[in-house]
Amino acid sequence: MLTITFVLSSLSLLAIAAPHEREARGIRIPLSKRNNLAIDGIVDPVALNSSVADTEAKIEDGFRSFLANTGLVHPLTFLFGGGDSNSGNNTDAKRELTHRKRATSSMALQDKNNGELWQGTINVGTPAQTFTVLFDTGSSDIFLPGPNCTNAACSGHKKYRPTQSSTSQDRGRSFDLSYGSGDVQGRQYTDKVSFGSLTAPKQAVGAASAYSKNFGLSSYPPDGLVGMGYQTISRFNSPPLFQSFVAQDNTLLPVFSFKLTASNSELFLGGANSALYTGSFTYAPVTTQGYWQVTLGAVNVNSVAISSLRNVQSIIDTGTTLILAPNNQLKAFYAAIPGSKNAQRTVGDGFYTFPCSSTATVSLTFAGRSFNIDPKLFNLGRVSRNSNDCVGAVVGSSFNFWIVGDTFLQNVYTTFDLGNNRVGFAQLA
Ligand SMILES: *[C@@H]1O[C@H](CO)[C@@H](O)[C@H](O)[C@H]1NC(C)=O
Ligand SMILES: *[C@@H]1O[C@H](CO)[C@@H](O)[C@H](O)[C@H]1NC(C)=O
Ligand SMILES: *[C@@H]1O[C@H](CO)[C@@H](O)[C@H](O)[C@H]1NC(C)=O
Repeated sequence: MLTITFVLSSLSLLAIAAPHEREARGIRIPLSKRNNLAIDGIVDPVALNSSVADTEAKIEDGFRSFLANTGLVHPLTFLFGGGDSNSGNNTDAKRELTHRKRATSSMALQDKNNGELWQGTINVGTPAQTFTVLFDTGSSDIFLPGPNCTNAACSGHKKYRPTQSSTSQDRGRSFDLSYGSGDVQGRQYTDKVSFGSLTAPKQAVGAASAYSKNFGLSSYPPDGLVGMGYQTISRFNSPPLFQSFVAQDNTLLPVFSFKLTASNSELFLGGANSALYTGSFTYAPVTTQGYWQVTLGAVNVNSVAISSLRNVQSIIDTGTTLILAPNNQLKAFYAAIPGSKNAQRTVGDGFYTFPCSSTATVSLTFAGRSFNIDPKLFNLGRVSRNSNDCVGAVVGSSFNFWIVGDTFLQNVYTTFDLGNNRVGFAQLA
């Protein structure tokens, strides 16, 4: 199974940084990586496909929330594969969102999942109930398995019990979040959520009564998920957890950062951990406040930019394993890698292979600066045991924008700056 998991290695600690450092107030959440990239180096097509389907459904869900919350059609909604990006016709966009929801929720269930798991712990309720969660910059809500969840996918996960918390309040609303493997549904509460010294007294929390298959314990070790995007894409139309922390504590910088590598990975709340990067950040402005959406200036192979792939929109998503590219741009991308082939027959629609012996290096350019993807991360594994073809980590999607997941984020130190609405990348220390 092709999975890159990052699991909590120890409990969260207060950062003890030199007093002169601006980020001395920050809170570190150590993460460690467990890498099962493929079974003996062979890719799992079903798991790959399932991973893409989950991401697509999740992102589309955010578009629906954006429409519900702001009354506006998210600009990227017009950039679905078949959509007319020039008409600006909300009727079409709304219909497409409705139609696509039905399509994705009927997707085949898979028993494997590719999600990378940036897992840490949060405390919910009074007295505190402790949960492990994934930190996902590609969504904006918190959900946990609730007491009414009897799906197999909930079994083994710790359940949030609102009735056992003196600070829980029923909002009288349900919720429904789409994933490729089915929906996560339940009831909305507000409750106290804390992490270390940070507290959100009335945080919106979803208690799920149904969990989709990919959230089963074997493919998804954490109990729940914490979204780290903007409120505009919140299903609950409520401030996401980090925004709540910032609103409560004016000493907390409205910035969080991720290091997602093989070891010493962490999420840093309240700035950037200067021990983990060198040089300066290069910042790309957020183009629409919903996802962490920035302009991807160029896609390069061996430092040569692919001319048709300049200044495309992209979403920086810690909750996505791979890099998703528009199906109609994949061909141009792989054409730049000698020996590459469309792997529709051998792996599936939207996948390409390249010679396993290839030394081609892919890089992404943001705000004028290019960052390489380690060829080992670009290579997902062999198609089959005796094949010399390896599957590339840039895969096709039905969107007309890019989703930059952990295949790229493992190569850089990334900072998400809510105060200035920008994403910064720096070289790892
Ligand atoms: C938008 O598209 C719908 C369906 O295609 C059409 O009925 C409607 O008139 C269009 N609206 C505008 C403003 O073009
Ligand atoms: C569980 O189900 C019961 C009965 O339908 C309902 O009253 C209760 O609110 C549910 N609890 C949660 C947390 O969804
Ligand atoms: C991927 O999933 C989609 C939706 O379930 C399905 O139509 C397609 O055949 C799958 N492809 C592979 C290679 O499994």
